[in-house]
Amino acid sequence: EKAEKADGKVLKMATSADFPPFESYDKEGNFVGFDIEVAQAIADELGYELEIQDMSFDGLIGALQSGRVDMVMSGMSATEERKQNVDFSEPYHRSGEMFIMKKDADINSLEDLKGLTV
Ligand code: ARG
Repeated sequence: EKAEKADGKVLKMATSADFPPFESYDKEGNFVGFDIEVAQAIADELGYELEIQDMSFDGLIGALQSGRVDMVMSGMSATEERKQNVDFSEPYHRSGEMFIMKKDADINSLEDLKGLTV
């Protein structure tokens, strides 16, 4: 069992629940996703109750700055502009999407793509 939940200790987290698999709703209307589970684990560890506020992505940083929430987890990337206004944690997820081509395409540079036909 984790630390006991101290009375009234609430961790307020804001998210924009339109970004599966990080944050969205299940059929019953519950928040689900990777960020939701990480936030719950953080709250459990601290002995806080997790309260999630869904809002538009553009409103997240303002909600944090005005103190309406304690943290934001919303699949948010640490851009230089955002770093001027908020403190980012260490990255907890790295995406490495790539495009793929046929094995025998032998593409090693942008140059090799020129004139390529199927
Ligand atoms: N990673 C992108 C960003 O930081 C997209 C995040 C969108 N997240 C969301 N919950 N809609 O801009």
